[in-house]
Amino acid sequence: MNLKHAWRQHNRLRTCLLLLALLISGNAAQAAAPKASLAISCGAVGMELRLCEEGAQAWATKTGHSVRVVSTPNSATERLALFQQFLAGGAPDIDVYQIDVIWPGLLAKHFIDLRPYSKGAEKEHFAAIIENNTVDGKLVAMPFYVDVGLLFYRKDLLERYGRPPPATLDEMAATAAAIQNAERAAGNERMWGYVFQGRAYEGLTCNALEWVAAYGGGSFVDEQGRITVDNPQAVQALTMARGWVGSIAPEGVLNYAEEEVRGVFQAGQAVFMRNWPYAWALLNGDDSPVRGKVGVLALPRGSADTPPRSALGGWQLAVSRYSRHPELAADLVMFMTSAEQQKRRAIEGAYNPTRPALYQDADILHAQPFIGQLASSVAQAVARPSRVTKGQYNRVSVAVANNVHAALGGQSTPQEAIDKLAGELKRMSRRGWH
Ligand code: GLC
Repeated sequence: MNLKHAWRQHNRLRTCLLLLALLISGNAAQAAAPKASLAISCGAVGMELRLCEEGAQAWATKTGHSVRVVSTPNSATERLALFQQFLAGGAPDIDVYQIDVIWPGLLAKHFIDLRPYSKGAEKEHFAAIIENNTVDGKLVAMPFYVDVGLLFYRKDLLERYGRPPPATLDEMAATAAAIQNAERAAGNERMWGYVFQGRAYEGLTCNALEWVAAYGGGSFVDEQGRITVDNPQAVQALTMARGWVGSIAPEGVLNYAEEEVRGVFQAGQAVFMRNWPYAWALLNGDDSPVRGKVGVLALPRGSADTPPRSALGGWQLAVSRYSRHPELAADLVMFMTSAEQQKRRAIEGAYNPTRPALYQDADILHAQPFIGQLASSVAQAVARPSRVTKGQYNRVSVAVANNVHAALGGQSTPQEAIDKLAGELKRMSRRGWH
């Protein structure tokens, strides 16, 4: 009896041990295919970082891999310097880079071709952006969101003072001055007419391009690579902008980038603001003092018969050639740029999709009605001369921003600034743009 009992006990124990061994080996098998850990660098302007983290987390949950989100400086100029440092050293630490619309040519050699991974998804995006992101036949990055310069204005103040939304730059400046003066006279001493990005960085290049193009003065360098900035309309445009500083715009604009500009406008201290679409969602956030009081328009024209000229901006996602997980990184990029993710970002943060179909999406139009009007602004937007100036674009942009900044700050006259800029661009292009 005892023996039988002991035998049964032994058998039970053996089964238990076997089961345990199976369990352990099962776990071991799982552990043998370790999940990868990726890093994506995202912008952190406004709610960008949170939206990126949520997207990356959704991909991580779906695939079982993990993603670390690395935040980057707000200034596109500083961000580029950081990325160039990382990429020049072949650092594998970041798998996916969020790159500016003007960088594919500059950084192409550090990124993989995404065509083998896209399954034709590029056909669903604006063709012009795909073309912009294609360098020597290689699809360097997938479009993430598109930007156009916009004029935000205080609807309530324009109504109070009986002023229509301005169509031209002169009308805007006149309305800005009138409302600024009236508000100050009424005791609102901190009110300004207009705020824009005037710091010497990429954002000023965008503003300057918009002013010069609005007056019909071109885009510094034309599509054939010829320097065109040396023209009277460009001088006229800088003269106008110089006149704003210290009158309708605070001297502080000379040090403002996107978020400083938004800060002043959102605090209720400016009538007009030039900014990108992302500002819309934040201006209308629960805690915003100007919630519900803001209107948005295409940028004013140079004159009644010239088209509005917004700079084309926007961001893309690219996979580093030094990534240890290029296939997974490409999968993450396709997920982050998918219709579903772009829709979420448009609804929550007013980030403009790069997929034309989403401009007709009922949920997006319900949440952010102004996005519907933006498709035409995107189509008409002026590109910075990054494709034609290739690897030298950043030097071009630095020259534009520094010379324009000197004119705005009064260190040089508008004519001197344009002459100096033209001279610098000519020297740069002496051996052809490369
Ligand atoms: C926005 C645009 C980008 C531009 C930058 C300038 O982020 O999307 O293209 O270079 O502003 O500040």
